[in-house]
Amino acid sequence: MAENGIVLANCSQVLTMTGSGLGIIEPGTVRIKGGSIAEVARNPLTPADGETEIDCHGKVALPGFVDPHTHLVFGGWRQNEFEMRLAGRTYREIAEAGGGILSTVTQTRLATEDELYNRALERLHEMLVWGTTTVEVKSGYGLETEAELRILRVARRLGELGFCRVVPTFLGAHSVPKGTPKADYIERLEAEVIPAVAAARLAHFCDVFCENFVFDAADSTRILEAGRKHGLVPTIHADEIESSGGAEVAAKVGAASASHLLQPSDPGLAAMAQAGVVAVLLPGTCFFLRESHRPPVAKMRELGIVMALASDFNPGSCPMLAQPLTAQFGCLHYGMTIEEALRGVTVSAAKALQLDSEVGTLEPGKAANIVVTDVPDYRHLVYRLGHNPVWMTIYGGRVVHRQF
Ligand code: NIG
Ligand code: FE
Repeated sequence: MAENGIVLANCSQVLTMTGSGLGIIEPGTVRIKGGSIAEVARNPLTPADGETEIDCHGKVALPGFVDPHTHLVFGGWRQNEFEMRLAGRTYREIAEAGGGILSTVTQTRLATEDELYNRALERLHEMLVWGTTTVEVKSGYGLETEAELRILRVARRLGELGFCRVVPTFLGAHSVPKGTPKADYIERLEAEVIPAVAAARLAHFCDVFCENFVFDAADSTRILEAGRKHGLVPTIHADEIESSGGAEVAAKVGAASASHLLQPSDPGLAAMAQAGVVAVLLPGTCFFLRESHRPPVAKMRELGIVMALASDFNPGSCPMLAQPLTAQFGCLHYGMTIEEALRGVTVSAAKALQLDSEVGTLEPGKAANIVVTDVPDYRHLVYRLGHNPVWMTIYGGRVVHRQF
C-alpha cells in the first residue's frame, strides 16, 4: 500500500523529538516516502497523486518506540520464582539457590533454534502492538558457545523479518555456568566465545552483568575490553543490586550505555557524565522486584546524563515489554518528567543504541518508524495508566500493526 507514500494527515499533535524537547507540531502532518520521512509540517499537506492519506484527527503521532535493553530470546518462564518472591524470598536468594538466570539457561539450552524463534516471534509481535519499532536483544541464556550463537541467530532472523529493527548484544557474561570456575569461564569467553560471536558478525554490543557477586568491576573491565578488541561496543548492567563500581567501569571502557544504576557512586556518575555514557533506566524491573533503591535521577539530570528507558523484558526480573508502561513507571516510580520519559523511550533510547542518526526522531531522512496513538494530547501517553495507546505502528514506511 505504501508504494507511493503515506500521508498521516491532521494529527492533533506530532512529537518530533528534535532539539532538546518534544518538538510539538500542533496540528501536524507527516509525509512518508520510500521507507523514510519526507516531511513533517504544521499545515495540512495535500496528498500527491497515488499517496495514501490516513486521517489522524484526534491522534498523537511520535517516533516508534525504541527499547534499548531486553532479553527477548529465552526458553521457559519463571512464574514459580515470582510466587516465591511474593512469599518473601529475594531475587538474589533465588539466584544463589540455583534458580534465577541459571534456570532459564537450562530451559534455553534444551530448546531448538526454531522453538526459541517461535516463542520470541510471539513476543516481538506483542511489542509491535505496543509500538516498539527498534529493539535491542541480548543473548546470555546459553553460557556456552553454541547456545549463545543460537540465541543471536534467532535475534538476526527476527530482524530479517522486516517488522522491527533488532540490535543484537552478546551477554555471555550474564552468569557463570554451573560447575565451571569463574576464572575458567572468563578465559573461555575471551579465547573462544567472543571471537566466535564476532567472526559470525552476530552482535553489535558486548554486555556484562557487573555485580560484586557475579562479575566484579575487574572481571567486567577485562571482558568488555576483550569484546572491544573484537569490535564489540561495550555496555554494562551496572550497580543494580549493590554498588559495585559499574558506573566507573562504564566510563573507563567507553561504554555506549550503562543499565539499571540503582546505586551508582558519585564519582562513578561524574565519570559517566564526562565520558558521555547514556544511562538506561529500567523502572519496570525496579517495580517488579520491589527494589528499595531508585536511580539518582535528579543528580543525573543535573550532570546532563542522557536518560533512556528500557523494558529489560526477561522471564525473571521483568516480564513486561510495553514501552508506554515503561514511560509511566519512569514518571511514577522514578520521578522523571513526562518529557524525559517520552524522550527516554524514543530519541534517548536511540542514542543508547548509537542509532540516533537513523531512528528516534521524526525528521526528513530518518526511518519512517512511527506510532500513531489514540490519544489527543501527549500527556495522556503517561497519564492513562495501563492503557495501550497504540492505534497504528509503522516500520520503514509500512503499516506493521493497526488497531481495529
Ligand atoms: O537485567 N541482571 C541480569 N539480567 C536481567 C535479569 C535476567 C533474569 O533474571 O533472567 C536483568 O534484570
Ligand atoms: Fe538486563
